[in-house]
Amino acid sequence: MYDNNPTLEAPVKDIDESKQGQVYYNDQGVLAHGQKKFYIESYGCQMNFSDSEIVASILAEAGYFPTRIMEESDLILVNTCSIREKAEDTVRNRLKIYNKVKESKPETVIGVLGCMAERLKSKFLEEEKLVDIVVGPDAYRDLPNLLNVAEEGQRGINVLLSREETYADIAPLRLDTNGVSAFISIMRGCDNMCSFCVVPFTRGRERSRNAFSIVAEATDLVNQGYKEVTLLGQNVDSYKWENPESKEIVDFAQLLEMVALIHPKLRVRFSTSHPKDITDEVLFTMAKYDNICKYIHLPVQSGNSRILKLMNRTYDREWYISKVNRIYEIMPDCAISSDIIAGFCSETEEEHQESVDMIKFAKYSMSYMFAYSERPGTLAARKYPDDIPADVKKRRLQEIIDVQQAVSLAHNKEDLGKVFEILIDGESRRSDQHWKGRNSQNKVVIVPKDGVSKIGDFVHARIVDFSSITLIGELTNV
Ligand code: 5AD
Ligand code: SF4
Repeated sequence: MYDNNPTLEAPVKDIDESKQGQVYYNDQGVLAHGQKKFYIESYGCQMNFSDSEIVASILAEAGYFPTRIMEESDLILVNTCSIREKAEDTVRNRLKIYNKVKESKPETVIGVLGCMAERLKSKFLEEEKLVDIVVGPDAYRDLPNLLNVAEEGQRGINVLLSREETYADIAPLRLDTNGVSAFISIMRGCDNMCSFCVVPFTRGRERSRNAFSIVAEATDLVNQGYKEVTLLGQNVDSYKWENPESKEIVDFAQLLEMVALIHPKLRVRFSTSHPKDITDEVLFTMAKYDNICKYIHLPVQSGNSRILKLMNRTYDREWYISKVNRIYEIMPDCAISSDIIAGFCSETEEEHQESVDMIKFAKYSMSYMFAYSERPGTLAARKYPDDIPADVKKRRLQEIIDVQQAVSLAHNKEDLGKVFEILIDGESRRSDQHWKGRNSQNKVVIVPKDGVSKIGDFVHARIVDFSSITLIGELTNV
């Protein structure tokens, strides 16, 4: 019974996806038989958070259960991000804190997982001496072995990248879940080689997961009462899986349809799209199914064609504009968001202005905005000097943020008076008298509690007020 699933009656924890370093735990007692406890923090992209659930599943099999109290754990893990220098600095600071715990409890094992593990490899063990095990994104199955090595007082490392590993057969252990929304990893790695990006080096070659295992995972989530899945990958639109028996190819548009057909009330989202790979077929599939959310994260990175060429994005300003036009033509109600980098190598003021203009042209509902951070080993680090002074980067970034804020405000203003279907996913952070939910366009909508609706319910809300980041609604029967 999808709509009345009893798991949604239980008190559920709200998750804040924007909160980095989130501590995972499971308070449903599922793993209470475990002998040892692990504590895990995750940084970086949603993919990393999703990977931590695979790690948790592997550890559960090995007899570990999760705790949110670092001091009482036998194993402290940090799933790390290398995308910008700042992300790495945060992790280094966390490692010092874990080591304080280890000082009073020397048998505690400390492990670094994910992208930083891959990038820095044995440097962690040899130079920094802050960790006992180092495990790259494709080596999580080896964790139990590495833990044995660590327990014998040695240091364990496995940073081998794989061309096949998709963890397709591992059922993620949903940690800190709200019981409403879950991530499903559909592919791993990235073959794009954007010149600024460390991901191809930390996460290896692109590979797509068995389509049937994805549908099985989504179906399982529906049966547990989940109402929303987000299909995750560094570049979901280049998803391509060949059925080894029939040799038939499943592409992303087809996968999207397979997942949408599982249940008409299962909301389907996906992230992230590369503009060069999102096809008309994907757009038509989105338009065809009400339960595929009308929201596309379509990172532009820069609005200037010369910079896009240096970034190796393989499209130019005009091409991106035509893609945006196509999306709005096929789905006029679709929201588009973006990632934008300020101050990439050699960027002029005029070129920066084209990024600012793109925000206005594309009418992004929101953007993730960054100052360029040179990453060792990337194409840009090897070929182009990081020559925009920090204060200029900062000023350009602020201009981008200010314009995006104004565009978001105008975007939200256009929603005044509209009625949206909202999936309630938690309590408002500001008021226990209000629910928080999202509409199809991925906008957060706050509605008053009515004493009937609960987390996991779909309700209709008429928008009566707004800020640049939130819509305020009142409940309506449509
Ligand atoms: N510096 C700044 N931002 C970066 N991103 C990726 N690499 C860098 C970098 N070296 C941003 C891109 C990407 C997002 C996940 O992070 O905008 O889409
Ligand atoms: Fe960070 Fe990229 Fe690794 Fe995600 S894939 S954790 S964003 S470096």
